[in-house]
Amino acid sequence: MLFKSLIAALAIATPLVTATGNATVINECDFEVTLWSVGSQINGPHQLEAEGGSYSEKFVVDALTGGKALKVTRNRDGLYTGEPQTIYAYSLDGDNVWYDLSNVFGDAFAGNKLVVQSANEDCGAIVWEDGTAPAGSQVKVCTASEDVTFTLCA
Ligand SMILES: *[C@@H]1O[C@H](CO)[C@@H](O)[C@H](O)[C@H]1NC(C)=O
Repeated sequence: MLFKSLIAALAIATPLVTATGNATVINECDFEVTLWSVGSQINGPHQLEAEGGSYSEKFVVDALTGGKALKVTRNRDGLYTGEPQTIYAYSLDGDNVWYDLSNVFGDAFAGNKLVVQSANEDCGAIVWEDGTAPAGSQVKVCTASEDVTFTLCA
């Protein structure tokens, strides 16, 4: 009887599904940036104000694309005018999340430090000292239960 209640108590204390972390973007630059969250649908634009503006979404699996791409530009219509974009992409894979940083159409944040890092310090960080991609693959993987944050002008 006592044993049975113990099992019941443990079942309540241990949820079957662990908490899912967030993909977060923090704008520490002294200028506004604009972000779109792109999967099979485009969510945005979201303006991130200078020096502290942020965006956050819980890691999700997109039914069509699998992962999501958080695309950041300098101007408010940048996604639609072929402006340089810096893209923080993530892919939720069970208990893990894969993450990457890339530039298209130029280097939107050239001269500024960009960092993508999990709250779990055991996982690798992506660090671009001058806003441009170093050679080679940058893809990292970490526990999906913790937030992975992309900081602009870190
Ligand atoms: C994700 O963000 C929500 C809302 O801000 C927060 O309550 C939660 O603690 C975050 N998750 C983690 C794993 O930090």
